[in-house]
Amino acid sequence: MSDSKSQGGDQWGSRIGVILAVAGSAVGLGNFLRFPGQAAQNGGGAFMLPYFVSLLILGIPLCWAEWTMGRYGGTKGFNSAPGIFQTLWKNPLAKYLGSIALLIPLVIYMYYVVIEAWCLGYAFNYLTGDLMLGENSKEYSNFFDKFVGASADGALFSEGGSNLLVFLIFTFVFNFILIYRGISKGIESFCKIAMPIMVICALCVLARVLTLGSEKVSAGLGAMWNPNTDYLMQPKTWLAASGQIFFSLSVGFGVIINYASYLKKDDDIALSGLSASSMNEFFEVCLGGLITLPAAFIFLGAAATEQGTFGLGFNALPNVFAVMPGGQFFGFLWFFMLFIAAITSSLSMLQPVIAFFEEGLGLKRHASAALLGLVSAMGSGFVVYFSKGMVALDTFDFWVGTMFIFILAMCQAVIYGWIFGIDRGHEELHRGANIRVPWFVQLMLKYVTPGFLFAIFIGICITQGPDYAETLSKGGIPLLSILFILTIWIFLLLLINIAGKRWIAEGRFQTIAHED
Ligand code: ALA
Repeated sequence: MSDSKSQGGDQWGSRIGVILAVAGSAVGLGNFLRFPGQAAQNGGGAFMLPYFVSLLILGIPLCWAEWTMGRYGGTKGFNSAPGIFQTLWKNPLAKYLGSIALLIPLVIYMYYVVIEAWCLGYAFNYLTGDLMLGENSKEYSNFFDKFVGASADGALFSEGGSNLLVFLIFTFVFNFILIYRGISKGIESFCKIAMPIMVICALCVLARVLTLGSEKVSAGLGAMWNPNTDYLMQPKTWLAASGQIFFSLSVGFGVIINYASYLKKDDDIALSGLSASSMNEFFEVCLGGLITLPAAFIFLGAAATEQGTFGLGFNALPNVFAVMPGGQFFGFLWFFMLFIAAITSSLSMLQPVIAFFEEGLGLKRHASAALLGLVSAMGSGFVVYFSKGMVALDTFDFWVGTMFIFILAMCQAVIYGWIFGIDRGHEELHRGANIRVPWFVQLMLKYVTPGFLFAIFIGICITQGPDYAETLSKGGIPLLSILFILTIWIFLLLLINIAGKRWIAEGRFQTIAHED
């Protein structure tokens, strides 16, 4: 790491540490559960084309833009999106735009930690042998439905419900202990141990899936790679693919911008950004895709498309473990690996909000952790209570995990390309860089990325808008979930208003204006 001091506060301890932490944020349930689920629901091979186009046009360029904006904001003394956006765009409204970059990680954490607890619970049930249920795939769906309380709202709180809440409380507390320890001692130290463990576990399971029998495996792989061209023409497929790229790389999430703000002024971001993204793609396409999708198509066939976004892995993989020697051990290994992968990601969702509470409201770490704990516990409580058919979880995931990310990505592309400026961006990206990023990437960020995002957005409004409106107009849990999200958003906007007044009173922006 460079020696040049640029800002006070918490910082990363080593270069490899920050790459592993960003890769840890990226690699998570998105790679192993959400990606296969989205691919299965959106035409298998047809999904892969928009997926790779989105990676090249949106994911990697925006990832570099976020690293650039984050490190720049950090050198100006800010670690959270409202402050960073205000340094990039000197308009009082900029900080309110930053609210989206707090809302996204916060709301995603609320349901992500629940799925994390599913993983821990599954690992535990493999350890005890309770998940060795024979070769009837129905048994595994029944187990899953009971474990997550899919039969009725409040099922987990009633007598006879599963013990998921115990795993949830443990997972919640574990996240907060790590986040409380801070950037270097908590997040970085954990990721340095967790990432290698994940690779080893995933490679073991992959080797087993790919030796299930060549015919079965090639049929499964065919389902993943053969394009069903009908899907290619639908804006929905493009939205799902670009949404998956964002979710998976943690881009448009408010996370990278926050992590990058802890770098020093001359630390490399060009190669680090690319390394973290490449590591993520290896986990997603080579491990997540090759493990879960073939297994799903082999054991569940057409039903693979009906398992909900995150449910696929929980329903498909136990069938694999049931027919393999040492299945109990591999089952444990797989779900434990998912749990670790999820922790490295959920930590990254807490940090942006903690950073905001600290620098915006002047709270100490224990107070900000307590406030964040309270708000996120309410959200997770909402998700586990309204567990019927996982409607609340899927609504949070669609509106925040896809739509809001999409909107934030558009805003960031505009702030970077049109307000901060691509000349400054190019120069800033290359300060201390270990590789050169071609100039056309900047042109792409200015013109192609926002244009492409905008085109998909319009396509979605036209083709899906009436359907979404109809779903919401029926009321019920989808509408309640949206109202919950809006309430959290308003709460964050109010806090940003308070923070903005504090920053002005402290003369923080005047110092920046002088420096510029
Ligand atoms: N990027 C994280 C994941 O893929 C959120 O799970």
